[in-house]
Amino acid sequence: MQQFAGSHILSINQFERADVERIFNVADSMQPYAHRRRVTKVLDGAILGNMFFEPSTRTRVSFGSAFNLLGGEVRETTGFESSAISKGESLYDTARVLSGYSDVIVMRHPAEGSVAEFAAASRVPVLNGGDGSNEHPSQALLDLYTIRKELAGHGRSLENLRIAMVGDLRFGRTVHSLCKLLCLFQGVQVVLVSPDELRMPGDIVETMRSAGLAVNESDQLEASIAHVDIVYSTRIQEERFQSQEEADLYRGRFRLNQSVYTANCEPNTVIMHPLPRDSRATARELDDDLNDNPNLAIFRQTDNGVLVRMALFALVLDVADQVDRHARDVNWYTAGRF
Ligand code: CP
Repeated sequence: MQQFAGSHILSINQFERADVERIFNVADSMQPYAHRRRVTKVLDGAILGNMFFEPSTRTRVSFGSAFNLLGGEVRETTGFESSAISKGESLYDTARVLSGYSDVIVMRHPAEGSVAEFAAASRVPVLNGGDGSNEHPSQALLDLYTIRKELAGHGRSLENLRIAMVGDLRFGRTVHSLCKLLCLFQGVQVVLVSPDELRMPGDIVETMRSAGLAVNESDQLEASIAHVDIVYSTRIQEERFQSQEEADLYRGRFRLNQSVYTANCEPNTVIMHPLPRDSRATARELDDDLNDNPNLAIFRQTDNGVLVRMALFALVLDVADQVDRHARDVNWYTAGRF
């Protein structure tokens, strides 16, 4: 079992199934706060250092919002150019300094292993917001939390889940973390759909097979999405390629749109994507014409991300049992948007 209080959250490898259940239970309890019916000040006075050295919309803003919703304050660093790292300062020195200014730190960095290196020097817990193409653990947790909710809506549990992951499985850190997370569940069937050059790293496939998952690899979209509960589409991670020309070889290779979905998928197949999706005409791995499809869960994923990230903060800062004690109803008008 994971000792959450004071711990870094760096990799899915550190979790057992009971830890995941604990995170999901705490996430469930955050709903009144994330959905703006109640406010809590349980983290009043606490400071989050939100350090993003790669572009981000969802992870940066939802971690920040999650901390604010628990009553804490957020200080942001975005991009190397606004950090003294651009003057040659090491991750070690940066971590020693910033962990004196914050109670918890979220970090995204383009180099694999960089967040763990930073965490080793930090005096406060560090949460991995994505380190290169290695891992994105909070995304995998919110993805699985979403899968659980979507399946529950159809009277199903996570056992015997059937999922197709599609796209850039070589560089996509969200699918790396999600594959590791699925190893904690029984009877899972995974189809990995990618161009041959962008296949899931062999060590992750081996880990899944060793854990008892049924794993198949394919380069054919239509046949692979015919008998699954979830289609999890991903963007070609063009920022990880040696050149734009190389990335362009793969953009638009797999396109899920309404007609492909109708022709191939079972009626209740859930459509997911970690976002951002590439909506440019040459890509469109997840077409805008799916926007009115009730099985499109991508914006439920982003909403769920706040709940899961609130849970991670509450557990790491050891306030999960105190949230309601510091709460009251909201004063303002809130639209029923959740
Ligand atoms: N899913 C995800 O990591 O999105 P951002 O890059 O916008 O944070």
